[in-house]
Amino acid sequence: MKILDGKKLSQEIKAELKTEVLELKEKGIVPGLSVIIVGNDEASKIYVRNKKRACEEVGICSQVYELEESVSEEDLLTLIEKINKDEKVHGVLVQLPLPKHINETNLILAIDPKKDVDCFHPENLGKMFLNCPRFLPCTPAGIMEIFEKYKIEVSGKDIVIIGKSNIVGKPLAFMLMNQDATLTICHAKTKNLKEKCLKADIIITATGETGLITSDMVKKDVVIVDIGMSRDDAGKVLGDVDFSEVSKMASAITPVPGGVGPMTIAMLLRNSVQSAKIHNLRKYESNESTNS
Ligand code: GUN
Repeated sequence: MKILDGKKLSQEIKAELKTEVLELKEKGIVPGLSVIIVGNDEASKIYVRNKKRACEEVGICSQVYELEESVSEEDLLTLIEKINKDEKVHGVLVQLPLPKHINETNLILAIDPKKDVDCFHPENLGKMFLNCPRFLPCTPAGIMEIFEKYKIEVSGKDIVIIGKSNIVGKPLAFMLMNQDATLTICHAKTKNLKEKCLKADIIITATGETGLITSDMVKKDVVIVDIGMSRDDAGKVLGDVDFSEVSKMASAITPVPGGVGPMTIAMLLRNSVQSAKIHNLRKYESNESTNS
């Protein structure tokens, strides 16, 4: 049984990105990422702190805008507009979830697609869908990177995804379909989850329901990717999978923590550096056309 070590892989990717950032800085480009967080969601605060720390590690300049729970949608849209126009910022993201009085879709639509390093904007999701991506959504991209690194073939495989969110389940399904996997997407209303899981070569679960996947639900040598993240009463971080029992059946499994989580952040950094590179190219091309 192989542990799919996302923490180690993310460190390798961050080391590569650090070199790329140095090269960009030599050309006068400092990759910049702006992060907007609204309210006091504890998990979001931890995610944002980790994103900021990771930016510092690779040399990306980050600004975090921490806004009161009561902020209006209009003020948020004005802030996004300001960041869109800021030449020094190459990536912008709004940490989700948002308070109920704010329409998430309106904010996503307001982000300049060229700076949408989360890949939440429909223009970027459409490009990904058509298999000509500008950016890739961070958590799905992190999972694909784990598959590539550990040589886990997805073409022709029966894959069960549990969770149909816009951030993970839906985009991941399209990315896997683009690589010729056969998908079953399950969610809270799915009947006979066990029966479907028992047929799967690969199970990817993103529900936040501790212990959802038990050893009697999986076939021998299954590959397990656990994106669940919850805490027990003692504050211990737990995934969706009963790790100690399911790992006895699996050929490979991601741990929680240290699996997909660090890869999500590594992919955000990669998108931010990619965005800065595209910006540099555009700058170069516009200089060329002015000079000719
Ligand atoms: N909330 C949970 N995951 C994410 C993510 O990847 N991006 C943003 N913006 N919010 C999230």
